[in-house]
Amino acid sequence: MKIAVLTSGGDAPGMNAAIRAVVRTGQVYGHEVFGVKNGYKGLVDGEFIALTHQSVSGMLSRGGTFLGTSRLPEFKEEKVRQIAVDNLKKFDIDALVTIGGDGTYHGAMELNKMGIKTIGLPGTIDNDIAGTDFTIGFATAVETIVDAIDKLRDTSNSHQRVSIIEVMGRRSGDLAVFAGICGGAEFIITPENPVDKNHMMEEIRKYKNEGRRHAVVVITEKLFDVHALAKEISETSGFSSRATVLGYIQRGGSPCPDDRILGSLGSYALNGK
Ligand code: F6P
Repeated sequence: MKIAVLTSGGDAPGMNAAIRAVVRTGQVYGHEVFGVKNGYKGLVDGEFIALTHQSVSGMLSRGGTFLGTSRLPEFKEEKVRQIAVDNLKKFDIDALVTIGGDGTYHGAMELNKMGIKTIGLPGTIDNDIAGTDFTIGFATAVETIVDAIDKLRDTSNSHQRVSIIEVMGRRSGDLAVFAGICGGAEFIITPENPVDKNHMMEEIRKYKNEGRRHAVVVITEKLFDVHALAKEISETSGFSSRATVLGYIQRGGSPCPDDRILGSLGSYALNGK
């Protein structure tokens, strides 16, 4: 068979390990494997490259995705997907492996409805894909966040501050929960467990009266204006407060062992069937 593989949406550590697994397992079973550049955009633009054992050498430990990725909102339009389907047929591709998160899975499902054999590998730091306990990239992102929390706790304690740390996750609070627990956060605020702000303020004032030197609040993105929250805490609690938005650093870096293993399980995408 001719198999194509792509990565789409936000990049995640371990995506390269997953591509490598698909390529090398494909070769074991005698398939030809092609990489699609830059996610669904490359499908539409017809950017296919042949991948060999050698093309994925050294990829296990590399962050990001060497195939490139993108977001393509236009892929929701059937006429745009039809161009992708036509290109897959033009290149005689028998099946497509997509590595990504929620949006990538939706795209793959729509392609499947249009007659393309697809299989998804869950690659996103958000851990928001059903059917798997963990997604490729999540564990590394948690490590990055925990490292940041540890560092921010040092300076919070020195300055007697409340540190607010905004993490990614989109609609999933898993990054905040896992990293918040590992970092010993006093408050973890997520879409699944939104906080009662008055209660939190009261608790923070209590901490001050008890003589505590600092507190850490980990919060999923898009829930609050974290800088405004820091200002409010500074004005009303007796602590000064600062907010740190961790941002894209959470998506980078060499995958940790768990993500290398999860990525390597991408070999099950082919598995000879
Ligand atoms: O899906 C991964 C993710 O990093 C989310 O946590 C975040 O909300 C989003 O991507 C950011 O997307 P973009 O790279 O388009 O800014």
